[in-house]
Amino acid sequence: MATVLVTGGTGDLGRSLVRKLIEDGDVPRILSRNASATVPAGAKLFPGDLANQTGIAEATDGADFVIHCASNPTKPAEDLEATWALLETAARQGVQRFIYISIVGVDRLSHPYYKVKRKIEQLVNDSSLSSATLRATQFHSFVAGLIHRLGPGPNNEILVPAGVRLQTIETGEVAHRLLEVTRSTQTGRAEDIGGPEILSLEEMVTDYLATRGLHATLRSVSADSIPGLPWYAWTGEAHLWPKHRYGRITWHEFNEREGAAVKSEK
Ligand SMILES: NC(=O)c1ccc[n+]([C@@H]2O[C@H](COP(=O)([O-])OP(=O)(O)OC[C@H]3O[C@@H](n4cnc5c(N)ncnc54)[C@H](OP(=O)(O)O)[C@@H]3O)[C@@H](O)[C@H]2O)c1
Repeated sequence: MATVLVTGGTGDLGRSLVRKLIEDGDVPRILSRNASATVPAGAKLFPGDLANQTGIAEATDGADFVIHCASNPTKPAEDLEATWALLETAARQGVQRFIYISIVGVDRLSHPYYKVKRKIEQLVNDSSLSSATLRATQFHSFVAGLIHRLGPGPNNEILVPAGVRLQTIETGEVAHRLLEVTRSTQTGRAEDIGGPEILSLEEMVTDYLATRGLHATLRSVSADSIPGLPWYAWTGEAHLWPKHRYGRITWHEFNEREGAAVKSEK
């Protein structure tokens, strides 16, 4: 039975990790800025903020492993400093292993968030701790959230950045692989993982709408006309990893499950 600190344990990937750790009989700790966050039975909440470096000593004290999933893409520079502080504290506390989740292609894409993730990978690799990094492609849940933000707008149109292709993966499958890496002695970069298929964004939006019983007109827009997100970066190949289609759960299967959950809430 291991005590495992999951930073970002309230997030999409973190929740899957925490669930699996409980199923496996381990003791997950969740560091969150929300001191009243609801956490599953069997997990322990540690209030703290990585950006101002509070709560880290308490959360790492007595932890065997740290799996670092917390991230704030709107303030990437804070992620870098936060990871440095987390690594230093974890090393002082005698944490056995430190595992970091990164993104396929961070070394090949120029988006500012990816550049910082690459620097964090190096920081993790250079630390005195036994450490490993796993890179994954975009999560199904993440892209579903992005599609939700794209529309439909008032005229029932959904804007679709042109030329985007994605190889999305289920967070439960990423969590499974992360735990395998955590429990191994592997250091450095683990083999990148990707989802089971590469789809165009048009195909993804169409399936998203159909499985939720929604109807909208797709309107193609330039991938660099929507600010804030690396849509333009996803028109190339660097974020894809067809060599290792690790995930089994398809975008359609994910949408059928999520669509059924949405319909049952209505
Ligand atoms: N999303 C993707 O498609 C994808 C693909 C590959 C890799 N990744 C990587 O996987 C990791 C998790 O992604 P995700 O999509 O699951 O994230 P998410 O759902 O956006 O959750 C972000 C988490 O980070 C925590 N967090 C943010 N700032 C924090 C701070 N200052 N102090 C403490 N906790 C903080 C949040 O916790 P509280 O709000 O509770 O404080 C939350 O649990 C990230 O490193 C991301 O780069 C993501």
